[in-house]
Amino acid sequence: MKVGIVGAGMVGSAAGFALALAGTASEIVFVDQNRALALAQAEDISHATPFHSATKVTSGGYDALEGADIVILAAGVSQKPGETRLALLERNTEVFRAVVGAVLAVVSEPILLIASNPVDIMTHVATRLSGLPRSKVIGSGTILDTARFRSLIGRHLGISPQSVHAYVLGEHGDSEVLTWSNARAGSIGLSAFAEQVGRPLTRELRQSIDHDVRNAAYRIIEGKGSTYYGIGGGLARIVKAIAQDQQAILSVSTTTDVVEGIENVTLSLPRVIGRAGVHLDLHPDLDDEEREGLRRSAEMLKDLSGKLAL
Ligand code: LAC
Repeated sequence: MKVGIVGAGMVGSAAGFALALAGTASEIVFVDQNRALALAQAEDISHATPFHSATKVTSGGYDALEGADIVILAAGVSQKPGETRLALLERNTEVFRAVVGAVLAVVSEPILLIASNPVDIMTHVATRLSGLPRSKVIGSGTILDTARFRSLIGRHLGISPQSVHAYVLGEHGDSEVLTWSNARAGSIGLSAFAEQVGRPLTRELRQSIDHDVRNAAYRIIEGKGSTYYGIGGGLARIVKAIAQDQQAILSVSTTTDVVEGIENVTLSLPRVIGRAGVHLDLHPDLDDEEREGLRRSAEMLKDLSGKLAL
């Protein structure tokens, strides 16, 4: 499995580092307009792989992407302190106008994995510019928010986040929806489990977890300038599901026929991911408040996407 990473900044290199250590890809190639940066990232990561895998890590021009199965698009600008993800839209759309065509000139039928923010609309942009099937243009979406949600719930309940089955849906951003109503710990409803272990999910606790998930990026950016390890790990998780044809259920962003009455909108739902990309969209049961939140998120994304001249 050959993976191309366009954009050798912090997010792209964190994804490459996670992939290289896991040995998920046989080859990783970095491409960046700053050739020296791409070369340095590749060389630095290639010095870590001997401890963990036999992954070949290189860099080059777009022609080095030849034969790539997956191309991660992590190019563009990232949030500054206090800046929303949506504020990056115009600048990163211009970046994608150049990047998507350059990738497809070398790789005819890749799976495109979108990391650049605002990731839902950038996934819409990449879908439109590439002409690839929707199932092959996947945005990282709320995979990271879902991990943050599960991590905080697991910490409260004293269990592994991998035993928490809870999803964040909609926009990867301020309008995202944390779905408490269908969350489970193992095979038990979350509220029932919490009562059983004597750690009830009070209204205050739910509000605290919601705030911490929704504002995690802003908090981290204030502290260190940008986020990259969380998203890098999320991108590596999606690549693993594809590379190993896992048919894994992950909350990722693709253009979806209808979401809460909004047609052709790109946002995150739980989806079955395997070698061909997205195999199936899942529409979970939600309570009225969650459904309204998802509808509002979809409506906002559809409105913003519709204003783009692509
Ligand atoms: C974050 C960035 C990846 O949420 O949007 O950390």
